[in-house]
Amino acid sequence: MLPINHFDTINKPLLTLLLLPYSLLKILLYEGGINLEVLFDLKNVRKVYRMGEEKIMALDDVSLTFEKGKIYCLLGTSGSGKSTLLNMLAGLEKPTSGTIIFKGQPLEKLSESQLALYRQKYVGFVFQSYNLLPTLSALENVTLPLIFRKIPKRKRIVAAKAMLKAVGLANRAKHKPMELSGGQQQRVSIARAFVNQPQVIFADEPTGNLDTKTTYEMMDLITGIARERNQTLVIVTHDTEISVYADRVISIRDGMVESITDNVNTVTDTEEKRSDIDEEN
Ligand SMILES: Nc1ncnc2c1ncn2[C@@H]1O[C@H](COP(=O)(O)OP(=O)(O)O)[C@@H](O)[C@H]1O
Ligand SMILES: [Mg+2]
Repeated sequence: MLPINHFDTINKPLLTLLLLPYSLLKILLYEGGINLEVLFDLKNVRKVYRMGEEKIMALDDVSLTFEKGKIYCLLGTSGSGKSTLLNMLAGLEKPTSGTIIFKGQPLEKLSESQLALYRQKYVGFVFQSYNLLPTLSALENVTLPLIFRKIPKRKRIVAAKAMLKAVGLANRAKHKPMELSGGQQQRVSIARAFVNQPQVIFADEPTGNLDTKTTYEMMDLITGIARERNQTLVIVTHDTEISVYADRVISIRDGMVESITDNVNTVTDTEEKRSDIDEEN
């Protein structure tokens, strides 16, 4: 049996650490380089769609957290509920039950106009089909989120040009989407997603319309920028080849979280990935 005073025998500094209030512990760990800031906290989220008589359980009791500065992959087959989950995080849909807390604020309690402000201020989007405005140039498309935020014109142009340069398209600023390849259009949409310096970027099947080589280029680009700026990135995909770029892979099946896996050797560069594949063969 342990002696009554066995606490005396255990590591005192460890005990002190365990008894610290959580808020103080968080600051200490953060200062130590461990980033624990939770951006999204989902608790028992359900989404039921009604189609006439039929009920579709698109999300079934999902509880998850998303931390600042991490890259996440929502991995699952078509119809598993990935886009529904992403739309909830973006405040585009409300849960049937459960809560989605963003920095302490339950999103489902916000009005439509508050949600629009939330997206403008904190969120960037990358879509499978790029969603660029066809009549605007690449540069003008990238300035759009800055117009919504009422940034003065001169500043907008400087920021958009810098962002186009960062995605390797400085020499395509005046081109319309139709005058660009699919990969180039996706680069413009990546520039548009990041130009506001949002805290979180949502990418729903961002490489779904691209060939294999361009897919790797795009993944290098989007994860590279997010890592450099310590932004949170949530990528939706059905493709396990894409999931290797994430720090954490959340597998979704039939609206439920099937597994959560942390990648130990996250791919940060395609060359690295290719050499790994070569070694395996
Ligand atoms: N607006 C909607 N109305 C009715 N059912 C929907 C709607 N959106 C999605 N669903 C259904 O919810 C399930 C999950 O869809 P979704 O999240 O789009 O899957 P994924 O993105 O993983 O392919 C599917 O069965 C789909 O048919
Ligand atoms: Mg989808």
